[in-house]
Amino acid sequence: MGKITKDKEMQVSSQIDAAAQAKPGFYQELCEKLQDLLGNETDFVANAANASALLFHSLPDINWAGFYIFRDGKLIVGPFQGKPACVHIPLGKGVCGTAAKKKESVIVPDVSKFKGHIACDPASKSEIAVPLLNWGKLIAILDVDSASLNRFDEDDQEGLEAFASILVGSLITEDMPNLSDIAN
Ligand code: SME
Repeated sequence: MGKITKDKEMQVSSQIDAAAQAKPGFYQELCEKLQDLLGNETDFVANAANASALLFHSLPDINWAGFYIFRDGKLIVGPFQGKPACVHIPLGKGVCGTAAKKKESVIVPDVSKFKGHIACDPASKSEIAVPLLNWGKLIAILDVDSASLNRFDEDDQEGLEAFASILVGSLITEDMPNLSDIAN
């Protein structure tokens, strides 16, 4: 193999290593920013509103970031950034309803191939939905959309799950009034 080819190969491989390192570090910083932003506030609407703004203005290549609150057995739209969205999502429907029913994160590389996908912004091409759980009880879904295919991977899932758990943690007070008010 010629020297130039070898050098090029090493350069590409170090770029791949850097990219692999970049996302976890990015999410760690984002989680620290969220922690600072929330401070001692325990109100769900206030904290979810600031969390969605932080996501929307920090994550590259996304067109929607926000929350669906689990209330009365279904999801209702909560604080978000992006184009207006559908208001109610039944459990088990769409990407958010599926994540809510399974109580697990769902990554959709291509929304056109996800049966039952609910299109709020026609520009959205890939999506991730992450449940906010308190001791296994569903509180809300964090939903992020992108206009690019295949935008979200396991690093995004891990990072957004950590982000979501910081938000859940911010709601916990001694008698947990905020949590019982949100999900009923
Ligand atoms: N696409 C979602 C609906 C919410 S919007 O993307 C904001 C779904 O299928 O559940």
